[in-house]
Amino acid sequence: MKKEKKENLQENDLMEKIVSLCKRRGFVFQGSEIYGGLGGTYDWGHFGVALKNNIKQSWWKKFVDSRRDMYGIDAAILMRQEVWQASGHVAGFADPMSECEKCKMRFRADQLEDAKKCPECGGKLGEVKQFNMMFSTRVGASQDSSATSYLRPETAQGMFVNFKNTVDAFHPRLPFGLAQIGKAFRNEITPRDFLFRQREFEQMEIEYFIREEDWEKHFEYWRGEMLSWMQEVGLDMAKVHELEVLKEDRAHYSSRTVDFEFDYPFGKKELFGLAYRTDFDLKNHKLEYIDEPADAEAMSGKGKSQKIVPHVIEPTFGVDRAVLALILSVYVEDEKDGEVRSYLKFKPNIAPVICAVSPLLKNKPELVEYANKKVYEPLKAEFGRVAWDDNGNIGKRYRRQDEIGTPFCIVVDFDTLTDDSVTVRDRDTGEQERIKVADLKKYIKEKI
Ligand code: GAP
Repeated sequence: MKKEKKENLQENDLMEKIVSLCKRRGFVFQGSEIYGGLGGTYDWGHFGVALKNNIKQSWWKKFVDSRRDMYGIDAAILMRQEVWQASGHVAGFADPMSECEKCKMRFRADQLEDAKKCPECGGKLGEVKQFNMMFSTRVGASQDSSATSYLRPETAQGMFVNFKNTVDAFHPRLPFGLAQIGKAFRNEITPRDFLFRQREFEQMEIEYFIREEDWEKHFEYWRGEMLSWMQEVGLDMAKVHELEVLKEDRAHYSSRTVDFEFDYPFGKKELFGLAYRTDFDLKNHKLEYIDEPADAEAMSGKGKSQKIVPHVIEPTFGVDRAVLALILSVYVEDEKDGEVRSYLKFKPNIAPVICAVSPLLKNKPELVEYANKKVYEPLKAEFGRVAWDDNGNIGKRYRRQDEIGTPFCIVVDFDTLTDDSVTVRDRDTGEQERIKVADLKKYIKEKI
């Protein structure tokens, strides 16, 4: 009998296991690792990129491709300093910081257990200062302060500064939204907890432009949409909680924020957020919109157009936190006949690999030839995310594919040469069935 041991895993133990699995199986590596690592940066390996792409595609499909009211954008990461002055980030995007007078290490003041004592060396901590988290740089050769530019700390501003371009190009009527997926950078004082708090990370954000009087209705709607995507992608919804963020804890632009928190092994912390940004950003960028009457009103001569500054509802998602929470949601250890195995129970459409193809023995050319030409190549052409795995014995290949989260392992054996059937093993149950090679594509399509 199988028994799931997930609940019993020690919490720290679990994080260590996840970090180690991510490295061992080629998902995520420490940034600049061979030079000792660069804190708060990670490099994504082959399967990590595939997983991230699937998450991003699922998000884009739901929130952009399947809607009529959403416009995609991919804005530059470097933006003029005026953008960040208008947005309030130059003045206000700061965390409180304390520096140790002895070892000179710096800490987030609001995360310290003892505000006076250095957690590293026990030395005295200096007074709390505000530390702006934006990475600044210079554009061009000039040393003048006018050349200062910033790496964006949120993708949102790329959408606000393209509001007018979008309206001029597409003439959308309210309500409508802009959506963007891209990198964001924050010089976090203490990056920590693997992918959770990094200095370079990715966001998937929507700025949804509305009439002021409708903001509560749209806020509720987007709350539901966010939860529905989290479920679709495969997050463990029992671990997702909503938090009404208090006024004093909200970002400078927000009149209402709901955080979606997740039960990570290191505590219940923010996963995604939903904010009512009012007209704060468009107003500060001096942007407005001509609100035309609805067609019926225009025809009856009742309505007339007026200039307004639309208000904004902002659903925001961190890609890296989505990956971390998803891996934590689908990580399972079970035990069969005294042997423990770990696997990632991804949904097939999110798994980095849909199926792996193996010849039973790699030193039998007839098996290799069949597996390659009649199974691997046609499946690869159809699904893309198909792996060839002939490393080690079959047991080892199954263990490896389980840890990658591959839903199906297909094995070509000696019977295949005569009956044109293969063994397909299911990741979650370990059960195997014989499937005709001619039916494989249909079989997999039905499963995904
Ligand atoms: N435009 C609004 C905004 O940026 P935020 O709550 O500061 O809001 C949005 O960030 C999302 O970005 C968070 O919910 C989280 O998923 C992700 N995020 C923020 N800081 C992060 C960091 N240092 N490392 C990884 N992800 C981060």
